[in-house]
Amino acid sequence: MYEKVLESAEYIKSRISLSPKIAIVLGSGLGDIVDSLTEVETVDYLDIPNFPKSTVEGHAGRIVAGRLKGTEVLIMQGRFHFFEGYPMKEVTYPVFVMKLLGITKLILTNACGGINESFIPGTIMLINDFINLMPSNPLIGINDERFGPRFPDMTEPYNTRLIELAKQVASENSISYGEGVYAGFPGPYYETAAEIRMIRNFGADAVGMSTVPETIAANYMGIQVLGLAVITNMATGIQKVKHSHERVLEIAKKASIDLSCLISGVIEGL
Ligand code: 6GU
Repeated sequence: MYEKVLESAEYIKSRISLSPKIAIVLGSGLGDIVDSLTEVETVDYLDIPNFPKSTVEGHAGRIVAGRLKGTEVLIMQGRFHFFEGYPMKEVTYPVFVMKLLGITKLILTNACGGINESFIPGTIMLINDFINLMPSNPLIGINDERFGPRFPDMTEPYNTRLIELAKQVASENSISYGEGVYAGFPGPYYETAAEIRMIRNFGADAVGMSTVPETIAANYMGIQVLGLAVITNMATGIQKVKHSHERVLEIAKKASIDLSCLISGVIEGL
C-alpha cells in the first residue's frame, strides 16, 4: 500500500505548486470555505493514480489547494463514506496520501445529528472524543511501521490546543458552538430511537456517519485533528419530525458560513 500512496502523493505534488501542511475535509453542504481561497489549484480525484473511484451523486470529488488569508491549505471536496461500500482503507486513503504530502494538521468537518439537548440545529460541536460504532476501522490488517505503530494511542484523538483555539475564535466571532463526543454509526439509515437512547447513555453528544475512520487514521500517523461537527438536526426520538437529507443540506448550507469563519480564524491563529 505504501508505494501506491506514494504514487498518489507524487502525482498531486506534480499538479500543485503550493506545499500545504494543513488539510481540511469538507462534509456534506459545507463547501463555502473554498470560495475564500486564493491561488487556487484543483486536482480531480479521478485523475489521481490509485485514488478510490468515486460513486457519489453528481460531483466526483476533488482536491483544492490554495491560500486562506495567506496560509497554504489543501481541501478535500468530497469524502469516501463507509456506507457507500468502500473498505475502511479506501475511506481513509486520502488521509494516508496527506501524510506523504507532509500534512501535519487536519480539520475534519461533517453534518451530524444532535443528541445533547443543549444543542440546536446550526450549532457547531467541537468534537473532543469519538465512539466508533462502525464494524471496522482502517488499521485492521498487517501494519506498515512507515505510517505508524501497531497499537496507536487514542488519548487525545482531537488535539486539545486546536479545540481551545477554536473556542477562542468562536467566542470572538459570536459563533454558537458546543463541545462533545461524536458517535460514528455505519449508516446509511438514520439510527432508531432505541439506538440513540443507547448511545446517549454511552456519553455521545452527536451522531453521524463519517469522521471517525479519518480521525483514527490521522492519529495513527501523528497528524493532529480538529473535528468540527455541524448539528443539522436532532437525532431520532429527540426531534419529533422524520429525518430528511434535504433539510440536513439546507441547515448545513446556512451553518457553512459560520464554519468557514471558524476555520479561517483557527488557521490564522495557528
Ligand atoms: Cl440523526 N444520524 C446520522 N448518523 N447522521 C446524521 C444525522 C443523524 N443527521 C445528520 N447526519
